[in-house]
Amino acid sequence: MSLMHEIEFTLNGVQRGATVGVEMSALQMLRDVVGLTGTKYGCGEGECGACTILVDGRSVNACLLFALDCDGREITTVEGLAVDPRAQALQKAFVAHGAVQCGFCTPGMMVQATHLLATHPQPDAATAQRAIEGNLCRCTGYQKIVEAIVDAGAGCEGPSDAAGPSGQSLPTGEAR
Ligand code: FES
Ligand code: FES
Repeated sequence: MSLMHEIEFTLNGVQRGATVGVEMSALQMLRDVVGLTGTKYGCGEGECGACTILVDGRSVNACLLFALDCDGREITTVEGLAVDPRAQALQKAFVAHGAVQCGFCTPGMMVQATHLLATHPQPDAATAQRAIEGNLCRCTGYQKIVEAIVDAGAGCEGPSDAAGPSGQSLPTGEAR
């Protein structure tokens, strides 16, 4: 019996297939088979949220999901958020608030925060804080991230004097 299987799924709006092993995680598949490295490997144990993706509209830790279980699903990664106006608003607000430092947590934060705005378009700080409880950030102390999410939901980017250079973008899709 072959230990490799062909699966098909929708990835960021595009139908595609992949050959995956039975023990391969969705995170491994995305990074090593598909070549989308925006989704990060942090802990590999479901603790850090760096690998957050959306599966059929629900946020999931890709390190805990078998690649085989992506068969027939609709997968959205941080790369797929480029065309999402909610993610665009979040990106501007993250920059304006200085909510990105090393950037390692940022892709997972962006996916999680975009999912939050899809379900709670105007979250207050407590709601935003709860939403990112599973996403660890070693750099920012979280406050700036929470403020950025609240401001993005409210339709403003945040303190204009804290805004980064025009055209600055977040490190959401670079290879690591
Ligand atoms: Fe998946 Fe940390 S790498 S939760
Ligand atoms: Fe460094 Fe969050 S910005 S871990």
